[in-house]
Amino acid sequence: SGVPADTLLAHVRDVPDFPEPGIVFKDITGLLVDGEAFAEAVRRLADIVPEGVELIAGMEARGFIVGAALAAHLGIGFVPIRKAGKLPPPTHRASYALEYGEAVLEVREGTVSPGARVLLVDDILATGGTAAAAADLVEQVGAEVVGVTFLLELLGLGGRDRLGGRVVSAVLSVEP
Ligand code: PRP
Ligand code: MG
Repeated sequence: SGVPADTLLAHVRDVPDFPEPGIVFKDITGLLVDGEAFAEAVRRLADIVPEGVELIAGMEARGFIVGAALAAHLGIGFVPIRKAGKLPPPTHRASYALEYGEAVLEVREGTVSPGARVLLVDDILATGGTAAAAADLVEQVGAEVVGVTFLLELLGLGGRDRLGGRVVSAVLSVEP
């Protein structure tokens, strides 16, 4: 369908001071619950996927939603990158600083093969802390991060810088 970018963006709700004062939370629930908008978002993600991707890794929790939908759309596998303590051992771990707080990400050993060409997918790029930790994890395993793709990029928070020279793409971008 011909859902324009600004219409997709209209499905994303700004929630000031959540989960903490001074943070403007981007709520994508409205985009997910609208079938046409969700399908359009997945098609647009597929349009910006770099060449040669073999596997998608999505970051808990909202990266599971968009990453798994995109993987199924492309017919490739999906690996969950989980927050600490959710996966049984053995796991690989990477810690990171968030826009609000500190956290640890884990991936199950054996799910990402050395040399695999992996695309990281998440809903939102803010400071880049989540994606940088996920990229570290994938690289720890000896796999290659061929790109990092987001539904929405929040501009001006240093997210791209945090991801170094990696290939970053986003369907939508806004000033926070
Ligand atoms: C949000 C969002 C991204 C991340 C972006 O996740 O879904 O994963 O923050 O911020 P960053 O670029 O500064 O790391 P959050 O940790 O709030 O958890 P959720 O996905 O489980 O809701
Ligand atoms: Mg998240």
